[in-house]
Amino acid sequence: MSTQDNFKRQAARKALEYVPHDEYIGVGSGSTVAIFIEELASIKDRVRGVVAASIESRDLLEQHGIKVVALADVGKLPVYFDGADEVNHSLQMIKGGGAALLGEKIVAHASRQFICMAGESKYVSKLGAFPLPVEVVPFARSWVASQLVKLGGRPVLREGVITRGGHEILDVHDLEIYEPMKLEDEINRIPGVMENGVFARHPADVLILGHSDRAEVIT
Ligand code: A5P
Repeated sequence: MSTQDNFKRQAARKALEYVPHDEYIGVGSGSTVAIFIEELASIKDRVRGVVAASIESRDLLEQHGIKVVALADVGKLPVYFDGADEVNHSLQMIKGGGAALLGEKIVAHASRQFICMAGESKYVSKLGAFPLPVEVVPFARSWVASQLVKLGGRPVLREGVITRGGHEILDVHDLEIYEPMKLEDEINRIPGVMENGVFARHPADVLILGHSDRAEVIT
């Protein structure tokens, strides 16, 4: 197992303690969530069903014999489990490295508690070293890119990627993110933007940080 995978597994195992009995839960996507789903399989009878934020996670849950349910059928969820590309000390995050940010933000907002699982290298004092994913309507891409440049960013099209909703992703480099909540709102106000990967309005409630030999819980 690689060092990074070990960090992720430490966090994912600890996160099982937050899985409620006989309730529906939400899961996001990415490699940490994939490990979490493997671990969840060992206690799958505890959960009533899982809402997946991406098709990849849905398929993985089904492969492990875990019941998948639609958000529309369950409404509000008690808890949502997901990874992050970066997380700061206020537990605000950058997400969307796997292009599933829109589904992730919807399921996260539909949940009362957000449990973020991440390897120790993801914990940062300031967000922005990881390029910020912005999901855009394809015909508005150039217009949105010009507005992101005005905000100080350097948008780069993620070649060959079309999201589940039929949109494109601009990865915005060089952003200085001093006020995550303000930037999240500002970018979402640009016509043509579907969603962006700043999760500041709805930060994590609990961060489980995986180290080589243990998991640290930060609230
Ligand atoms: C997917 O779109 C992302 O938001 C992931 O949650 C994020 O990229 C973390 O991924 P890893 O767990 O693979 O690092």
